[in-house]
Amino acid sequence: MQIFGVDIGGSGIKGAPVDLDRGDLAQERCKVLTPHPATPDAVADGVRQVVEHFDKRPERLGVTFPGVVTGGSTIRTAANVDKSWIDVDARALLTEQLDGLPVTILNDADAAGVAEMHFGAGRGREGTVLLLTFGTGIGSALFIDGKLVPNTELGHLELNGHDAEKHASTKAKEDHELSWEHWARRVKKYLAHVEMLFSPELFIIGGGVSRKADKFLPLITGIKAEIVPAQLQNNAGIVGAAMAAAESR
Ligand code: BGC
Repeated sequence: MQIFGVDIGGSGIKGAPVDLDRGDLAQERCKVLTPHPATPDAVADGVRQVVEHFDKRPERLGVTFPGVVTGGSTIRTAANVDKSWIDVDARALLTEQLDGLPVTILNDADAAGVAEMHFGAGRGREGTVLLLTFGTGIGSALFIDGKLVPNTELGHLELNGHDAEKHASTKAKEDHELSWEHWARRVKKYLAHVEMLFSPELFIIGGGVSRKADKFLPLITGIKAEIVPAQLQNNAGIVGAAMAAAESR
């Protein structure tokens, strides 16, 4: 069965056919730039372009969204995309845009978490595991004994009187030209706060910055939980979306 995953991000819409046995892309991924403003119709068109880039049409499509998705379909929040997404039935919109293709949609961090728990840094890990993605925002995926608690949105906890992601995302690092040391102090404070609330056994640090884990993980001390970088890195969302699509068959 041919299943594609597509990851809708703040800067790009990326997708590929996924090999669900290996938990990896079956072909090199295709990326189009996220339109600005990132309205539902413009983004749905971007998803269609990514899908149509490949010769074969998928039988199912899994899509990630950078906001709360309830009932596998309805968008409830849109912190880093156009606000007109709120209350949109994204599954219906994408299915229509893709000529009836069955679509499954879930939060981007949840998708990345599902992939990491199955194929990556969280494999075989019981207890409370938290994957946090650092990018344009901060995404979170909470697992209890391997089972996902969806839409936790821990990037919007309050930190130093700010929305935490405004303070500690990699976008905040870039916007304010923070050094690794300075940014790591903020991340450490954020992790300490999340640890106080959830006492996880393991933090998995995802998002593009996980490739540079050696630059900042050694600077994060004083956290009781084990902290490891994600292993699937940039492709976790695509793989996790395809896994969700396969499961909803
Ligand atoms: C959104 C989350 C998302 C995260 C990473 C946050 O602003 O509220 O739903 O997972 O960004 O994209």
